[in-house]
Amino acid sequence: MEKLKIIGGKKLSGSISCSGAKNAALPMLAATILSDEPITFKNLPYLQDITTMFEILGSMGADITLNESMDFIISTSKLHDFEARYELVKTMRASILVLGSLVARYGSARIALPGGCAIGTRPVNFHLDALEKLGAKIELKNGYIEATAKKLVGCEINFPGVSVTGTENIMMAAVLAKGQSVLRNVAKEPEVEDLANFLNSMGAKIRGAGTDEIIIDGVEDLTGTKFSVPADRIEAGTYLIAAAITGGDVTISNIQAHRMNNILDKLKLSGALITEGEDKIQLTMENDSILPVDISTAPFPGFPTDMQAQFTVLNALSEGSSVVTENVFENRFMHVQELNRMGCDITVKGSNAFVKGVDSLNGAPVMATDLRASASLILAGLCAKGETIVDRIYHIDRGYERIEEKLSYLGADITRLPN
Ligand code: UD1
Repeated sequence: MEKLKIIGGKKLSGSISCSGAKNAALPMLAATILSDEPITFKNLPYLQDITTMFEILGSMGADITLNESMDFIISTSKLHDFEARYELVKTMRASILVLGSLVARYGSARIALPGGCAIGTRPVNFHLDALEKLGAKIELKNGYIEATAKKLVGCEINFPGVSVTGTENIMMAAVLAKGQSVLRNVAKEPEVEDLANFLNSMGAKIRGAGTDEIIIDGVEDLTGTKFSVPADRIEAGTYLIAAAITGGDVTISNIQAHRMNNILDKLKLSGALITEGEDKIQLTMENDSILPVDISTAPFPGFPTDMQAQFTVLNALSEGSSVVTENVFENRFMHVQELNRMGCDITVKGSNAFVKGVDSLNGAPVMATDLRASASLILAGLCAKGETIVDRIYHIDRGYERIEEKLSYLGADITRLPN
């Protein structure tokens, strides 16, 4: 298994470009199923999760090519299998995103039921209940979701809880439904708006994305489109924290501050000077000290759970105590034990992590348990004394494009060790 070796203690400085957002790209790739015409993607990030979605689409019969401008062109006009196999779904829960498109376009889908994962049970009942309301028949057989429908019919759906991929799945189902759908208590994440913009560029009629209520007027069919995947706010946030904990000065280009104000506000409270430009954000640490900042995760516009592990590292190096509360997933403190092995002083009680700032960390061999947990271990390694070896980095490759290259470019001492 590949590992990352980090020698901590380097101040990061310079400028890097933000990649396309994984969580925006995945639903857009699933939405290619909705049209017979080819769809061209610019700025698709090079990530394991994107490869997994390619494998799912490819196994169904999609044609995926790369042109000379490095744009991906996807054509789903010859789909013949409407199935996402367990071997793929178990590596990426977001595989469930093909459910809505398949049922809307082909009236049939067989998707392995995603199991629990490292950060919690993560059921998909909101997706299934809402799809049933649109007229699909759903059966659970041999570990698979089997969904069929003649023609979905628009309706009112009140989600019992806020779900990002649940909202996206049902948006994709409703765009080809007969009549109007009104989705309430939906997720307002920027990636939901991105998907609405993408679908509208294909001829869908979606209003209200980014608010609590999305209204969709079903259309007969959708066209092809050419679309650039917007920036990954979680990637940008992770690099800004890398700059903050190393006392650095880093600019991230190709990212719009309005996508991540909830993260920037907390960084400012921690003592970082944030300068927002058009499509770029600069973080400068003016003092050596980091101030402790309480954070409490919540659906957008709240603080994102996908930045919780990284922000915990920032707090762990601050001058004081803070409380990190995880409200979205029930088991998302797996990184804490490993961080404590590096010298952090963090105590988890229920959904709270009580963090006491320490002066310094020590390098250690550590194990990544999930995507954002691995990011937090790399961050800790960047400012720890001596060598940190992060094992199981396949987690990081799911969601960070060329992380060691980008960090090296900023001056970090980080190398990928082969198997
Ligand atoms: C998405 C993101 C993930 C992020 C998460 C929360 C993608 C591909 N993934 O995951 O990076 O961490 O949003 O911002 O965009 N729930 C149910 N029933 C359901 C669906 C969800 O109870 O049918 C619960 C979940 O267990 C969780 C909460 O709702 O406690 C929010 O989960 P959800 O927003 O669905 O996360 P994902 O869409 O899987």
